[in-house]
Amino acid sequence: MKVIGIEHIGIAVQSIDKGSPFWEHILGIKSTGREEVSEEGVETGIYNTGRGKIELLESIKSDSAIQKFLSNKGEGVHHICLKVDDVYSAISELEERGISVIYSTPKKGAEGFLVTFIHPRDSGGVLVELAQEP
Ligand code: CO
Repeated sequence: MKVIGIEHIGIAVQSIDKGSPFWEHILGIKSTGREEVSEEGVETGIYNTGRGKIELLESIKSDSAIQKFLSNKGEGVHHICLKVDDVYSAISELEERGISVIYSTPKKGAEGFLVTFIHPRDSGGVLVELAQEP
């Protein structure tokens, strides 16, 4: 497995409309689009600094992981996403080492990336997303 860099930081928000002005207008980070990731029950708003992105996550389903996170902890950092060269080999390497991944077969995330997540119990309490560029 090769980690290429930090792809984005995922932030749970109640509303992208309300959350975006801070990132887009106060900090001046370019918005590169909004997209529904229906499998995850979220809408994403991406802000690209050019060296790592901010991903705002708004729940669009009452039983989504983001809705549960918002109900338990409120708005804030939800996960960090590391870009990897090959998510399939990353998953098999991690599983061989006894590290739990949430999707044994990667799913399609925002921007077409193939993604999985490492369970926070195995990564120091941080939800880590692994993503391979489409
Ligand atoms: Co993400």
